[in-house]
Amino acid sequence: MTLKEIENEIKNCKTCRKDKKGLPVPGEGPSDAGAMFIGMAPGKKESETGRPFVGRAGKFLNEMLESIGINREDVYITSPVKYYPGDRNLRKEEIRHGAEHLKKQIEVLSPELVVLMGDVAAEAVFPEKDIKVTEDHGKTYRKEGTTYFVTFHPAAGMRFPKIRKMMKKDFQKIASLA
Ligand code: URA
Repeated sequence: MTLKEIENEIKNCKTCRKDKKGLPVPGEGPSDAGAMFIGMAPGKKESETGRPFVGRAGKFLNEMLESIGINREDVYITSPVKYYPGDRNLRKEEIRHGAEHLKKQIEVLSPELVVLMGDVAAEAVFPEKDIKVTEDHGKTYRKEGTTYFVTFHPAAGMRFPKIRKMMKKDFQKIASLA
């Protein structure tokens, strides 16, 4: 399977769309990206454009990437949940379902580094580990030749100065891994 085929599969997936709004947001980035950044779920702006991280959290993510010399266009950016859920908490089964598409994206891309931004991304990739970003941010995990790095979600870093400070330190580590 190619990345494009998986993106099309997501666009046509009725389970992904159930109880959610707007355009599908499968993810974007080059098919030879060495690093992948995974968030939570599209927001309103993303649901209007079909592109990941184009709202305020996206702007913050772009700045964080730039600060460590990474160009957003060079990495693959996505989320486990592929549609805007609106203003509500995600259900476990929605994360579990999105994770099936996400795992295929990781497998095909086979990046050296995957950055898990927030509890939902960590839950999607490592449901058995009970990772909590407040405790486990800055840690790396190895799986099938890929390094997984845990940090905060950009929306949290954007809102809370204390988290932003920790996230900046985490991104310095990412710079040495990417
Ligand atoms: N937050 C996410 O987790 N993903 C997006 O695409 C946008 C905001």
